[in-house]
Amino acid sequence: MASYALSPAIAPSQLCSGKNGMSASSTRAALAKCVRNGKDMRMKVRCMATSIPADRVPDMGKRELMNLLLLGALALPTGGMLFPYTYFLVPPGSGGGAGGTPAKDALGNDVIAVEWLKTHGPGDRTLTQGLKGDPTYLVVESDRTLATFGINAVCTHLGCVVPFNQAEKKFICPCHGSQYNNQGRVVRGPAPLSLALAHADIEDGKVVFVPWVETDFRTGEQPWWS
Ligand code: FES
Repeated sequence: MASYALSPAIAPSQLCSGKNGMSASSTRAALAKCVRNGKDMRMKVRCMATSIPADRVPDMGKRELMNLLLLGALALPTGGMLFPYTYFLVPPGSGGGAGGTPAKDALGNDVIAVEWLKTHGPGDRTLTQGLKGDPTYLVVESDRTLATFGINAVCTHLGCVVPFNQAEKKFICPCHGSQYNNQGRVVRGPAPLSLALAHADIEDGKVVFVPWVETDFRTGEQPWWS
């Protein structure tokens, strides 16, 4: 493969200088030694013009147009990158009507309230997928209606999913033995707090979870999870 190298005999700064003693004609061209396959060759190195005639400078309108085109070219890929980053950083859970998230059953289908009550009797607590994908219990009241709240199943001690014990009517954590009553209020540690709540609304026949930001009706305190 051919290789070329400039001779060190003539420094590049000498080739184009108009103020270092070289005449204008001498600055227009210089010779440099070039080596190709072991043979010396000579080639001309031409200098660029040191100034541009005034009539060749683009007018302001053209320069502004070029700036706009440059800006547009940069904005396209920048905007393309911004969207996935924003999508990644903004937490999910704001889907559904009025800021709610449709409850999903074990198969990933929306929970239809009427259908659910056909197969889940009074006192039932069954897990669904709730806000931000958290496992959340749907509660069937003794009058065979759905409770207006769902109970987040994530233990407030170290995050195990807490099953409901039908015999004892309690949520009992299998990890370290914390217990919660049938509404999720903590009754035995080491869990420090009650299970989180979410509103369980019905919209167009579907169960929709909505963040619970009001006072916790079980404790009379502000919700620790919001
Ligand atoms: S994670 Fe539930 S008691 Fe520790």
